[in-house]
Amino acid sequence: MVGNKINRVVLVGTGAVGCSYAYAMINQGIAEELVLVDVNAAKAEGEAMDLNHGVPFAPSPTKVWSGSYKECKDADLVVITAGLPQKPGETRLDLVDKNAKIFKTIVREIMDSGFDGIFLIASNPVDILTYVTWKESGLPKERVLGSGTTLDTARLRYMVGEYLEVDTRNVHAAIIGEHGDTEFAVWSQASIGIESLDKVIERRNNPEDRAKLDEIFVNVRDAAYHIIERKGATYYAIGMALARVTKAILGNENSILTVSSLLEGQYGQEDLYIGVPAVVNRGGVREVIEIDLNEEEKAKFNHSAKVLKELIAKVYS
Ligand code: NAI
Ligand code: LAC
Repeated sequence: MVGNKINRVVLVGTGAVGCSYAYAMINQGIAEELVLVDVNAAKAEGEAMDLNHGVPFAPSPTKVWSGSYKECKDADLVVITAGLPQKPGETRLDLVDKNAKIFKTIVREIMDSGFDGIFLIASNPVDILTYVTWKESGLPKERVLGSGTTLDTARLRYMVGEYLEVDTRNVHAAIIGEHGDTEFAVWSQASIGIESLDKVIERRNNPEDRAKLDEIFVNVRDAAYHIIERKGATYYAIGMALARVTKAILGNENSILTVSSLLEGQYGQEDLYIGVPAVVNRGGVREVIEIDLNEEEKAKFNHSAKVLKELIAKVYS
């Protein structure tokens, strides 16, 4: 609750990702109201029943119920995890045709309710579907954002922390670009605690470090494939990432997260949603942060942007 305002979040899509998000939201007591919407109404109803039975164990009460798009009218935030997930061997971009079609319908239904809040998108390809949501909703850019590379950044921070044997919360490093195969790590700006990563490597004087960090990046980029081939899908970490972004929004935090944001000239790109560091608060994306990239990183960013722009052009051709 901010002031005496009751926070209502509507979750569209009560599948693995959506329910992991809902579970994280309740366990962290982030919102007072959580409405579950799914084309499979029975599933949404069953999930609401099951989640409500856990509320007595939560730090604060969350009213959970299954509803319809009508309840978006009074929502502060609508989170969309609806859509098809990747099958083993599929890329996120392979989902674009089917999920873009689903999104155009869902967003229209939500806007028809009179919704005037913030959209947070997770469904893949998340950068494209966030762009579609912005286009189809007509809402101002700052009120439409995607999970972007928040999950990838968490994966990087975890793996680097494990390797350097430091708390992941002291690993200040980011993955930016497409949430997908063209993402990259901004090593040039990384720091551990209050020391640059370059300085840490110099001090450790371990000839294997650079190669190990490159290996870590590859494992971050390909993590979804490795998990999907083992357990069929990924959902816990993205659920927690979405809860983290939600907390930054509802709590008016002004936190810096690598969410999928609209570029209007930053990084030399425009008319594109892509994972970049951004300040997130009650209004959505307060500002995109244009960090310094070295020449190699600039080239990677431009490649990632090109892949996404080509796909957006296809969706809107
Ligand atoms: P899932 O199949 O478990 O759940 C999808 C849900 O969407 C189902 O409950 C289904 O009934 C519902 N749905 C489908 N069409 C709908 C419609 N027209 N209206 C309302 N509900 C509809 O899939 P899962 O594993 O939850 O993944 C969901 C999406 O999240 C996928 O696109 C997946 O790729 C994406 N994802 C994104 C991540 C990220 O970092 N952005 C990470 C992990 C998954
Ligand atoms: C992931 C995919 C599924 O990064 O988007 O987990």
